[in-house]
Amino acid sequence: MKYSLGKIGIMCFALLIFGMVSIAFAQTQYPNLGQKELVIKRGFTKEALSCIECHAKKMPGTVESWKISNMSHAGVSCYDCHTVEKRSPMASQCEGLKGTDIYISPMVSSKTCSRCHPQEVEQFLKSGHAALAGAAIMDPKKGKLQKLMYQFEGCAFMDNDKLDLSTGLTPKGKPAYVRVSKTAGCQMCHGTQVELGPDNKPINETWPGGVGTRYPDGAIGTCTVCHTRHRFSIADSRKPEACGACHLGPDHPNIEIYFESKHGQQYLSHGDEWNYESAPDTWEPGDYTAPTCATCHMSGIGELATTHNVQERLKWDLMHKKSVIRSGDRGDGLKGDKLMRKVCVNCHGPTHTDVQRITLDNMNELYNKQWAGAVKMKKELADKGLLKKDPWKDGYQELMYYLWHHTGRRARQGAAMNAPDYAHWHGTFQMFQVYKDMEDIYNYRIKNNKIEELSTVMSSAPY
Ligand code: HEC
Ligand code: HEC
Ligand code: HEC
Ligand code: HEC
Ligand code: HEC
Ligand code: HEC
Ligand code: HEC
Ligand code: HEC
Repeated sequence: MKYSLGKIGIMCFALLIFGMVSIAFAQTQYPNLGQKELVIKRGFTKEALSCIECHAKKMPGTVESWKISNMSHAGVSCYDCHTVEKRSPMASQCEGLKGTDIYISPMVSSKTCSRCHPQEVEQFLKSGHAALAGAAIMDPKKGKLQKLMYQFEGCAFMDNDKLDLSTGLTPKGKPAYVRVSKTAGCQMCHGTQVELGPDNKPINETWPGGVGTRYPDGAIGTCTVCHTRHRFSIADSRKPEACGACHLGPDHPNIEIYFESKHGQQYLSHGDEWNYESAPDTWEPGDYTAPTCATCHMSGIGELATTHNVQERLKWDLMHKKSVIRSGDRGDGLKGDKLMRKVCVNCHGPTHTDVQRITLDNMNELYNKQWAGAVKMKKELADKGLLKKDPWKDGYQELMYYLWHHTGRRARQGAAMNAPDYAHWHGTFQMFQVYKDMEDIYNYRIKNNKIEELSTVMSSAPY
């Protein structure tokens, strides 16, 4: 989008406000005073204006945020994003539209945005934020991993074994609380498959959802996870808080890692002096003195153009059980390595950048070595019938989960993004402690040919 549109937009909007104030006056007193009406009609149609005017009374918060957005200045309104064709599976009518032939939906997917922003949406759809983010919780039959995560990360407890794994829903008659951990948790970050009731409104708490939400018309993706509605700001999305909503906590503490890094320290000290408003692809060093998440993973910088495909600049897959160089639908790791280096060299020399890249490679080697040892011990225990069926009641398997999902990710991501405390004290240090405990359990079971009676692990332990 060319930002020159912005100025014209702002002028139109100013005229529009003036127009709105004088509309009643103009129409009754001076029916032939066409000029201001013409401006309004050019900016917003009569139908579009009616949504704004009524909602300004009924939902002032929404309208106020929208008013300060650059899109409102460019004449994009409720009407453009919320109206749908009558035959859309999501079509309904709000109180103000009953009796008209205008249909709307409270659901707005990336498909709506793609009418005006096709490139951003195309890139987004190739990234892990789209289908893959949803697959992690919605396609549990696809892989053992999903099943394990879905069933056991809190869902398959207290009646939740009755859940239908393919939909994440409970059989009829079951109380709704059994799916609440998905609704309040997984779904708000990863996304959800929206289901509709007879009035074409979402049911079963399957909306709203996170980044990879799947809509009834087949569209994927909720763009407002970073461009919070109804302001849809580019500035918001450049700040680390936009990502920290989901990228935090014991299993992927990216925002914590960032705040610990020298980059985050610069943001915390000087971030309020930085300029976040530059036009797309022109946000460069000088506007800021250190990178945010967006700078490294998305924004145009130096030779690089902005991308909505967050895996484009990654070499490693650091989220799964074994670190591997990215390929297939997880991207192209070797290309990713080259692109990420192009980010660093805007502010660092090649020696500094090489050291960081080698450190990450070495951390992956160390982690993979421990993971391989854990897999070998587990296989032997399984062959001898020395594993429990429920992994959360089995000390060995529980620790193995922490090795990968918590401590191992922290070590790898801490090393990747320059946070020594996460790389070591929350990372490698705890990795080796977990590993030693696993060795003890393994030795006990092999020596005694039985499983110890009580779990040696407390789930709330410091892991
Ligand atoms: C009818 C066309 C249209 C639709 C639909 C549309 N946009 Fe826009 N969008 C624009 C225009 C035009 C601009 C440029 C505004 C400017 O530069 O002042 C813009 C600008 C933006 C910006 C930059 C804002 C800023 O702070 O500079 C973001 C982010 C954005 N749109 C996101 C979205 C999202 C997300 C959706 C879907 C929910 C969407 N747009 C749907 C036309 C549209
Ligand atoms: C650029 C596109 C865009 C524009 C313009 C827009 N919306 Fe939205 N709106 C969205 C998106 C995206 C969502 C989130 C939908 C989702 O998660 O499926 C949303 C959600 C909503 C919701 C449902 C969520 C809630 O909090 O209840 C309402 C109501 C709503 N918008 C009203 C409005 C009104 C009124 C206007 C005009 C002042 C407006 N919207 C303008 C894109 C837009
Ligand atoms: C005369 C007042 C009025 C007009 C005109 C009006 N609305 Fe509404 N709208 C409401 C009220 C009141 C609600 C909340 C109650 C309801 O959903 O019926 C609402 C709800 C909504 C919702 C949320 C629905 C939900 O399920 O949460 C959206 C989206 C929406 N309107 C969009 C629009 C759009 C787009 C237009 C213009 C084409 C429009 N409205 C015109 C009064 C109005
Ligand atoms: C609404 C939650 C949410 C927000 C906000 C969010 N992400 Fe993500 N992100 C996710 C989820 C969920 C995944 C895991 C996807 C999967 O299952 O493969 C992910 C994955 C990623 C990945 C790995 C992608 C891949 O293809 O493997 C990167 C890099 C990333 N996010 C960066 C960011 C950045 C940078 C921001 C902010 C500008 C951000 N994310 C904002 C939820 C979010
Ligand atoms: C606070 C937001 C958040 C919540 C809640 C959340 N996740 Fe995630 N999840 C993420 C992010 C971010 C990643 C990417 C982690 C990384 O890059 O290390 C991720 C990664 C994953 C992955 C590995 C990636 C893949 O696609 O294979 C799976 C599986 C997964 N989550 C499943 C779940 C399940 C199941 C739940 C609920 C029981 C859940 N998540 C809850 C944010 C969240
Ligand atoms: C993970 C966070 C994130 C998500 C999700 C996201 N965006 Fe963005 N978006 C950004 C960032 C960061 C920028 C600013 C890039 C820069 O610095 O130039 C941006 C910029 C934009 C712009 C301004 C023009 C440009 O390309 O730079 C538009 C338009 C836009 N996004 C639309 C969308 C649409 C449409 C979607 C949904 C498919 C979407 N965004 C989803 C983070 C996100
Ligand atoms: C200085 C640049 C930089 C900053 C700032 C930065 N990252 Fe990263 N990030 C990296 C690098 C480098 C990697 C590892 C890349 C590779 O695989 O080669 C990485 C990896 C990741 C991954 C791991 C993907 C996986 O495979 O599991 C996620 C998720 C992520 N970053 C999100 C974020 C978030 C969220 C923020 C802000 C809170 C952030 N990053 C800040 C450079 C950065
Ligand atoms: C916009 C400029 C900018 C970019 C881009 C950038 N950095 Fe930095 N980086 C800084 C600043 C400023 C410091 C603080 C220097 C100091 O400690 O005095 C820093 C410090 C660091 C440090 C702490 C060690 C030290 O030198 O004191 C590491 C490690 C680091 N950066 C790695 C990276 C990597 C890896 C990349 C690319 C993925 C990257 N940086 C991209 C500006 C940048």
